[in-house]
Amino acid sequence: MDLKSLIRDIPDFPKPGILFRDITTLLRDPDGLRYTVDVMADHFADASIDYVLGMESRGFIIGTPLAYKLGAGFIPVRKAGKLPSDVYSVEYALEYGTDRLEIHQDALHPASRVLIVDDLIATGGTAGATAQLVQQVGCEIAGFGFIIELTFLEGRKSLPSDVPIVTLVQY
Ligand code: PRP
Ligand code: ADE
Repeated sequence: MDLKSLIRDIPDFPKPGILFRDITTLLRDPDGLRYTVDVMADHFADASIDYVLGMESRGFIIGTPLAYKLGAGFIPVRKAGKLPSDVYSVEYALEYGTDRLEIHQDALHPASRVLIVDDLIATGGTAGATAQLVQQVGCEIAGFGFIIELTFLEGRKSLPSDVPIVTLVQY
């Protein structure tokens, strides 16, 4: 399936000079949504995934059906101050300044095998910070999955080099 034809390009959003890759048009397409989740699940079907971690907010959309399909649990990685119980926290670089991502301290244990998913990898800051959170707990990252990779930003370089990275569409 031609996923690129279902992704909409919005120039100058959220600020001038950014070409925003909008997945809402892919998500609203029944065949596109099913294909995206099924193909990603096929890649990790034999990876013995215990938990899928999805990053706020678009990572929640793809991560939850993927976890269901893999027979895994879903764990949200949220922006600062959103999770109600005790958290591990990591600061990461944005284009301007820094932000924080958090995960519940009791969500993972050292024996867990996790799959980290998001809609898109750009600089890799978000996924790299999530990997740090997971490594802080001491559990194993079995893979990364993204619908879209902005290859020119070389986000892969921010991720552990020995972990499989699956991306379905590249720009
Ligand atoms: C977007 C996207 C990824 C991140 C990728 O999320 O969904 O999470 O940026 O960029 P990076 O690789 O440079 O870190 P955003 O922070 O815009 O949040 P949202 O999903 O809530 O819109
Ligand atoms: N997140 C970071 N860069 C993005 C882009 N160009 N389109 C959509 N989401 C993004």
